[in-house]
Amino acid sequence: MKSNNNPKGLSRVDGRRKVTGTAWYSADYKPAGMVYAVLAGSTIAKGTLLSVDTKAAEQAPGVLAVITHFNCPAIPGYQLEAGKKEPEKGTYKFFYNNRILFYGQPVAVVVANSFERALYASSLIKATYKAGEHQTSLRDNFGKAFPPNGTGLTTRGTDDAWKTAAYKIEQEYVIPSEVHNPMELHGIIAQWDAPDKLTVWDKTQGVKDTQDELAGIFKLPKENIQVNSEFVGGAFGSALQVWQHEVAAIIAAKVVKKPVKLVLARDDMFTSVGYRPHTWQKIGIGADENGKLVGITHEAIGQTSTYEDFDEGPVGVSRSMYACSNVTTRYKIAALDVGSPTWMRGPGEATGTFALESALDELSYLLHTDPIDLRIKNYAETDPESGKPFSSKFLKDAYQMGADHIGWHERNQQPGATIQDGWLTGYGVSGGIFGAYRDHASVKAVMSSDGKLTLSCSVSDIGPGTSTMMASVAAEVMGIPAQNIIVKLGDSSLPYAPQQGGSSITATVGSAVNDACANLKEKFQQLAGNGGSDHPDYAQILKDHKLLQLDTAIESKGGPEGDKYAMYSWSVHFVKVKVHPTTGVVKMDRVVCVADCGHIVSPKTARSQIIGGAIMGIGMALMEDTVIDHRYGKIVNNNFADYHVPVNADIPQIEALFVNKPDPYINSMGAKGMGEIALIGMAAAVSNAVYNATGKRVRELPVTPDKLLQSDLVEAHSS
Ligand code: MOS
Repeated sequence: MKSNNNPKGLSRVDGRRKVTGTAWYSADYKPAGMVYAVLAGSTIAKGTLLSVDTKAAEQAPGVLAVITHFNCPAIPGYQLEAGKKEPEKGTYKFFYNNRILFYGQPVAVVVANSFERALYASSLIKATYKAGEHQTSLRDNFGKAFPPNGTGLTTRGTDDAWKTAAYKIEQEYVIPSEVHNPMELHGIIAQWDAPDKLTVWDKTQGVKDTQDELAGIFKLPKENIQVNSEFVGGAFGSALQVWQHEVAAIIAAKVVKKPVKLVLARDDMFTSVGYRPHTWQKIGIGADENGKLVGITHEAIGQTSTYEDFDEGPVGVSRSMYACSNVTTRYKIAALDVGSPTWMRGPGEATGTFALESALDELSYLLHTDPIDLRIKNYAETDPESGKPFSSKFLKDAYQMGADHIGWHERNQQPGATIQDGWLTGYGVSGGIFGAYRDHASVKAVMSSDGKLTLSCSVSDIGPGTSTMMASVAAEVMGIPAQNIIVKLGDSSLPYAPQQGGSSITATVGSAVNDACANLKEKFQQLAGNGGSDHPDYAQILKDHKLLQLDTAIESKGGPEGDKYAMYSWSVHFVKVKVHPTTGVVKMDRVVCVADCGHIVSPKTARSQIIGGAIMGIGMALMEDTVIDHRYGKIVNNNFADYHVPVNADIPQIEALFVNKPDPYINSMGAKGMGEIALIGMAAAVSNAVYNATGKRVRELPVTPDKLLQSDLVEAHSS
C-alpha cells in the first residue's frame, strides 16, 4: 500500500480545525439555557458524612440547586438490592450512601447560572464527618495485599528457578502513581430532551460504551441516549469509563431541568478520573554462563481502592517477552482509602516492563554482555507462554535499526566512565511488548455524485489521528485524493466501534474502512460493467446511472488466525543521556524509538504517536510522581506547578522509526497497534542510560537529581 502519493503520509485531516479553534471539544458546546455545575469534595479520606450545610451556598447569587447525598434523586442503577448493605465491588457509585472512601470524593454538586458563581458557592459548602482511620500508604499495607480475582500466582516450568542460575540478580523496582493529565480537562454537558431521553457531549474514548454505561446507570433504553464526543484532547485511558462527575452532571440537569455543564478542575483530575497505580515490584532473574536465561520471578504489589479490585496485570510481560522455560509471577493488590486507579497508556505492560527491562540491564552488567546481545540471546521465536507462533515479529530488525541510528557502537560498557563536555554520558536500551488486538467494527461509506466520499463510524479519536488514518486507508483503496473524503465520528448514532483503547483502533476500524471501501469500489465496478476499471470515475458512473449516491455498510472482524497465532507489537527504545556530575541533573540527549507494528497506514500520525509515547515515557522516568500526604490522605501536588511533566525544553530530537513489515494475519492491511508500545519500555531505557552514564542505579521512579546524589541511600533503601 502506498501513502496517497505522499511518502510522508497525510497531514492531519482535522489539523486546521484543531489549530484554529474550530474543532469543538465536549465543553465547547452551549445548548440553549445551559448552566454550570461545580463539585465540592470531601476533606477527609475515610469516614462517614454526617451533614452538609448547604444554606450559604443556596443563598449565593445565581445558585439554582445544591445536591448532596441527603437530597439526591435516586439513581436507578445504583440502588441496592433488598437486604444488601454494600454495592458490588466496582467503579465508585455517586452519592449512593454516606460513606467517604477517598479524599476529594464529591459531597455536593452546586449548580448556578455562571461557572464563577457555581465555583464561589461551592466554597461555601460545609460538611461534617465522623472520620475513620485511613490508610493511604502502599508500603504500610503490603501485609493486606491479596491476589486480584484469586489468580495472583502462576509458574511456567520450575518455581523460582532463577535462584539456581550461575549469574543472578534480585532487585526491587518501584513506580509512583502517575496521573494521565491529558491537556483537555474531563468535561460533560448533559441535557435531558425528555424525562427518559438524554443527550450528552462528553469526553470519552468510546461513545457506544458510554451510551451502554449510562443506560445501565439511569435505566434507560440505549437508543434514548445520544453521546457526542467528536474531538477529544487526549485521554490515555482516563476516559474509558463513566466517572462520578458525569453522573453528577446528568443528575444535576435532571434537578434544574436545564442543560448542565460540568468540567473538572485540574486538581480534580488527580482524584476523579483514575491514575496508574503506585506499584512495588521485585525481579529475580538468572542466566547461565552463556547468557541464556534460566529463570525469571516477577512479583508485584499494586495499590487499589477499597471499592474496586483494580487489576493492572503488571507481571504478564515477564511471561512473553523472552524465551525462558521457568517463569514465576506473583501479583497482589492492596486496598487503600484512595480513589480507584485505572488503565493508563501501556497499562500493566508499562509498569512491568520498567522492572523487567531494568533487571535485564543489571544482568547484562553482571555478565559483561552488551544488553542488546543479551536480548538477542534470549529472543523468543515463538510465544513462550502459549507456544503459538507469532503472527509476525521483526524485533531483531528493530534492534538493528535503532542501534545503527543512535550509534550504539559508541556506547562504553563501563558505567560512569564517559565524560563529554563535562557531563557524564551514557546509553540505554529497553524493549516493549503489547498484544496486537483486532475487534469488530462497522463503517458506512457513501460516494456522492460530487465525487466526495463520506465515512461514518462512531469511534472516538482521542488524538492519535484516527480520522486521518481512516482517510488514508480510504484514499488508498478508492484511489481518490484525501481532500475528497469526509470522516464522521465520535457520535453514538453512527455505526459500531469499540472504545479507542488497547492500541486496537487502526487494526479494527482501519480494517472496516478498508473492507467498506473495497466493497463500495466493487459495486461501482459492477455498475460500470466489463469488469470495471481499476480506477473508476465514481462521479461519472453515478451520472451515467442517474444516481445521487452509492453506499455500503460493512461489519469487519478478525478471522480464525487470531486463535492460531500469538499477535503482538514490539518496540525498542534507545536513549542517550547526559548527567551533570555535581547537580545530578539528567539531560535527555538523543532518543531513537523503533516500532515493529506491521504496515504503517498513516506515517505522519504514526510518527507523532511514537514521539508522544516517548515523551510520556521520559516524564515517567524523570518527573512524574503523585505525592500523598499520608497524615490527611490527600494528594498534595495536584497541579502542574508541582506535578512535573516534560515540556519542550526537556525533550531532545526524537527519531521514530518503523520496521514497516506487514503482519500477514491480523488484517488485510497488515497493520498492528502502536499507541501503547510507544510508551512501554521507555522509562527503563532512560534509567538504564542513567546507570550507564553514572554507575548509579535508581530503582524507584522518577530518577530525580536528589536520588542520584544520594544514591548510597537509595541503594540501601531498595535492597
Ligand atoms: Mo488505553 S490505557 O487502552 O486508553
